Amino acid sequence: MTILGIETSCDDTAAAVYDTDSGLLSQLVSSQTEHTAFGGVVPELASRAHTELILPIIRQTLHKAHVTLNDVDAVAVTRGPGLIGSLLVGTSVAQALAAARGLPMVGVHHIEGHIFANRLENPELEPPFLALVISGGHTQLVDVADWGCYRLLGNTRDDAAGEAFDKVGKMLGLGYPGGPAIERSAAQGDSGFIDFPVARVKGDPLAFSFSGLKTAVRVVVEKMGASEVAEHLEDLSASFQYALIKALVGTTMKAVESIGAQQIVLAGGVAANTALVRAFKERAHRSALTIYNPSVKFCTDNAAMIARAGSFHLTAGRTSESIHPVARLPLPASSKLDDA
Ligand code: KG4
Ligand code: ZN
Repeated sequence: MTILGIETSCDDTAAAVYDTDSGLLSQLVSSQTEHTAFGGVVPELASRAHTELILPIIRQTLHKAHVTLNDVDAVAVTRGPGLIGSLLVGTSVAQALAAARGLPMVGVHHIEGHIFANRLENPELEPPFLALVISGGHTQLVDVADWGCYRLLGNTRDDAAGEAFDKVGKMLGLGYPGGPAIERSAAQGDSGFIDFPVARVKGDPLAFSFSGLKTAVRVVVEKMGASEVAEHLEDLSASFQYALIKALVGTTMKAVESIGAQQIVLAGGVAANTALVRAFKERAHRSALTIYNPSVKFCTDNAAMIARAGSFHLTAGRTSESIHPVARLPLPASSKLDDA
């Protein structure tokens, strides 16, 4: 089965062609640049840009895979969570293509897609495992007993990990998105420059909280003043990144203990951070745990992960007659798609 995947949940317009026999045939992502000047995603600009980009991206992705629409057997598209205007563009195009061609389609949960991204390069990966989803909008620990079965163990109480990177990046004048810029800057810095605190959530050991860390960086930046901040930019980046990674590793290890996990699956844009992956691998080595992490292009938003998750549902016979995009959408406890 050849599946066309479409992802437009935030500011990346992406398409992919995935074949259940031969794997990923092609994928393209167009990261919108119009948001850079605003230091964050402007929803109205995002949906307008998706409208302009989506059809050329799909055309180029099919071309790169050496297939045409005649070869496509099904369409998989992100139905949520995300920006509603952005999701509407992808789901409308998917439904139009499916209707015009008489193809089955399936709506995919964006976070489920991020988890499935690991399967693209590690076909041997099988549940049970613990997934740490770290993206611009989510920081979640998920007990994955089986594909399609998700139990939320921990969540952030305020900022997501990626959001903290983006806000601190903006504070340090490193631009948007902050994650890759902070990682580059931190590589030259001293992580022991400042011991930033990360809050623990009272009574909920598997929850995260990053707004206090963000505020701690702001207080230091304001106290230091522009010239000292410029002089110690790399050290501030490294200290912030170290504190955030330490909190992520520490809380994840508590979840490992609570469910007796033997495998940890990292997912989402922040999993592109090499210092983070290194920290997890070092910690896992001591406990004989296996860590899975996708390569960078499959960590950040892409349609290959949507097509891959879609193929799981489609091969199980789960299709959707129509797809209603949903901005706030919890991970399904089981893989029933009847409310799609
Ligand atoms: O998964 P993703 O592409 O989109 C969402 O679903 O949100 O994640 C985007 C987030 C942004 O906050 C970005 O700053 C962060 O991932 N990110 C990184 C890195 N690359 C992207 N954070 C830390 N280090 C990176 N190398
Ligand atoms: Zn994402």
